[in-house]
Parts: sequence; C-alpha cells; structure tokens
Amino acid sequence: MLQTIGLTVQFGGFKAISDLDFSVNRGELRVILGPNGAGKTTLMDLITGKTKPTSGRIVYNGREIAGLEPFETAKLGIGRKFQNPHVFDNMTVSENIEVAFRGFHRVFKALFYKKSREIKERINDILITINLDHQSERMAASLSHGERQWLEIGMLLAQDPELIILDEPTAGMTADETYKTGELIRSVFKDRSVIVVEHDMAFVRQIADIVTVLHQGRFLAEGPLSEIERNAKVQEVYLKEDAHA
Ligand SMILES: Nc1ncnc2c1ncn2[C@@H]1O[C@H](COP(=O)(O)OP(=O)(O)O)[C@@H](O)[C@H]1O
Ligand SMILES: [Mg+2]
Repeated sequence: MLQTIGLTVQFGGFKAISDLDFSVNRGELRVILGPNGAGKTTLMDLITGKTKPTSGRIVYNGREIAGLEPFETAKLGIGRKFQNPHVFDNMTVSENIEVAFRGFHRVFKALFYKKSREIKERINDILITINLDHQSERMAASLSHGERQWLEIGMLLAQDPELIILDEPTAGMTADETYKTGELIRSVFKDRSVIVVEHDMAFVRQIADIVTVLHQGRFLAEGPLSEIERNAKVQEVYLKEDAHA
C-alpha cells in the first residue's frame, strides 16, 4: 500500500530522514519505534505531505505522492492524528463527529440537514468504536485528556481513511486509558492499515505486529516485537535510552 524508496529530507545540513526504504502492506498495523529525534514524526510529515522530501520517492497505491499537499494525501485516503487533538470544545461529542463527517462528504451535505438514518448510524458506530457512545451529548470541553484523544480518532474515522497514522496516541494518558486505546486501535485496523508511532513499551507489546525501528533518520531494524527486543543494535540505541527516560 505504501512504500518509500531512498527517502531523504534535509533541514539545513542535517538529514532528519536519510535514504529510507520502508513499506507497509494493506491491512497491516505497523509500529514505528525509535529514540527521541530518530525522525519518526518527520517520516509521518513526509508521508502526509506536511514536509516535502529532498530526494527519494513515496508511492501510495501505485501512485507517486511525494510533494503532494496534506489535503491531497487526505483525499487519497491517508488520515493523520496529531499529538495534540484539535476538537471543537463548544460542541458535543456527537456534533464533533458529525462535523468531521460533513467536511469530508460535502456531496451529502444536503442530506445532512435531514440527518439521514444512514449517517446517524455511521456516527453511532464510530461513537461505539471510540468508547464514547454513552458520552455523546457531553460537551467536548468536559472530556478527559484520554477521551479527547479518542474523539479525535473518531473524527479521523469519520473521514474513512484507508491508512491511519497515529503519532504517539497514548501520550499523557493514564494506564487504563492507554490500554483502552490499544483495544480501540486493534479494532479499527481490522479493515484499514494503521501506522502507530509509539514510545510506551507496554503499549507496543499490547498492539504490535511488525515493528520498524528508526535511529538518526535511518532504518535500524524491522520484525516481530519479540525479535526486535532481542536485537542487539536496538537494545543499544533504543532500549538503553528508554531505561534512562
Ligand atoms: N522543520 C525542521 N527543521 C529542522 N529540524 C527539524 C525539523 N523537523 C524535525 N527536525 C529535526 O529532525 C530530527 C527528527 O525529529 P522528529 O522527526 O521530530 O523525531 P522523533 O519524532 O523521532 O522524535 C530532530 O533532530 C529534529 O530536531
Ligand atoms: Mg515525534
């Protein structure tokens, strides 16, 4: 579904991503690991078009997407959740999902005012997926940090992306919220592909299938988590750093 070939981005003289070959299959849940500054967020910025590569290719569904703008990659089905959620505080949970839906389904705008049964059901399905179906009439401003993060995942789902990118989705969450987020991600990825950038090793153990490790903008290792944890190079650069954190 997604492949980068020789992907490089240089900021001044510094290569934040360097000659990276990386790929994700359809229906896969991929975790990206790596110490701070490894280039994980930059890689997500390149895939979504927020940052333009200096050289190399990014192929998505057989099409070159390097250099496209974020709204263009979004139209092609790449949906990204940022580290800080931007939900509408003065709207209810349900209204936030509705707004996200409307933005990406302008064709159905007329239908929306009637709120067709189909759309109501779709909003309800999303509310169930993100565990907020019993909070649908609450104002977003009153949600906990974790609930806000789920609401933003719900807003992303309303856009019906084929590839979902989550950059540190559990940052600042309690252990219980983190665990629930793992369950949520596992249920979401059943019919989509998901890339999760994550630090929290307990969380990675809960969700990970195949893990890719970056270090200093370069590919370091890839494989099942059990192998990655035994990989000497990974232990040296990542797990050691993790222990210091
Ligand atoms: N726009 C930018 N200009 C200059 N340097 C940047 C820019 N974006 C990221 N960097 C640098 O690139 C490196 C990788 O950053 P980042 O991708 O945020 O790492 P990670 O998400 O793995 O912690 C860091 O050293 C960071 O300071
Ligand atoms: Mg980052």
